[in-house]
Amino acid sequence: MFRPAIRTSILILKRDLTSSLQYIQKPNSLIFIKSTSARLISTTDSSKSTVTINRNTTNTANSSATFIQHNLNNEELLRDIPSPLLRIPHPKPIRNEIIDAKTPLTTKDLESIDIKINLHRVPVTIPDKIAFNIVKMLRIPTDLFFKKKYIHRSVMLETVAAVPGMVAATVRHLRSLRKMQHDGGWIEHLLHEAENERMHLLTWMRFSQPNIWERALVVVVQGIWYNVFFALYLISPRVAHRIAGYLEEEAIISYTTFLNEIDNGNISNIKEVPDIAIDYWNLDRETATLRDVVMAIRADEAAHRDSNHHFSDRIILKKEDLREDIRRIFAEAKSHTARKIAGLNESAADKWERKLD
Ligand SMILES: [Fe+2]
Ligand SMILES: [Fe+2]
Repeated sequence: MFRPAIRTSILILKRDLTSSLQYIQKPNSLIFIKSTSARLISTTDSSKSTVTINRNTTNTANSSATFIQHNLNNEELLRDIPSPLLRIPHPKPIRNEIIDAKTPLTTKDLESIDIKINLHRVPVTIPDKIAFNIVKMLRIPTDLFFKKKYIHRSVMLETVAAVPGMVAATVRHLRSLRKMQHDGGWIEHLLHEAENERMHLLTWMRFSQPNIWERALVVVVQGIWYNVFFALYLISPRVAHRIAGYLEEEAIISYTTFLNEIDNGNISNIKEVPDIAIDYWNLDRETATLRDVVMAIRADEAAHRDSNHHFSDRIILKKEDLREDIRRIFAEAKSHTARKIAGLNESAADKWERKLD
């Protein structure tokens, strides 16, 4: 007889149990039992009741299931956190220079990170030219709306910038499921990028509060941007990543202008840097300023610029498996010089070398 791993039917509980959260668990199966035929075996206290239902009385299997009923008004429910959730997530920075730093980063450390500030990917093909011009056009209304309100502009920018990574990860995740194949190692990077952008947003929110019009604009822009980018990613992921790459180039220009305004004294170099930024970028608590935060964020944008242009190139070249080339590069990079040329940080290269031994 055909017996599916997951069997469902409608759970109709006795009247005194119906207003609460209900679920039934059994290893390898999830069942909902028509409980007019279920038999109540035991209950515990008033806040949480455990009921064992003898499934002999149903049309399912010859075993029992445990049913836990919580009272939704009771704090007990909030304390009963499943063990996999019992940790506070701590977002990881995106740049190796920040992750690998042994001591808190000073202004000098941040200035020494080579982000190739003027790097620009010259559009050659028609799709790339379209992508470049789309981004340049999008800049015009942004400049008109925000003018010199740099922090408010940054809030808006980050709500937009955090979308492509999540959309790309979603589409590639679904494609991996559909094709039942590995995605080539992109998804984690893309999710990491989206999280990194969200951390930028949360940082800026500690410096300023958007007004109601800016919040309304964010809602409208997100509604349009998410759907347009999603559709674009389905049609042409190479153009989508190229657009993301050019958006990052514009972000670098905007943050460089922001820095110049601080250096010219037009924007106060605020000394109180929020904990979220100190913790995330491992900034020196004693010396950190707004300028350091802008530099750290700009360095992240440069990483996104490089990643997205690279992803687009890989799609064009039909070489989407990132893992193959990473393995090759690490394997080849035996000497310190070669490692440097390959752009590998020392600790990662050492770890890989040990693995090879
Ligand atoms: Fe950002
Ligand atoms: Fe970015």
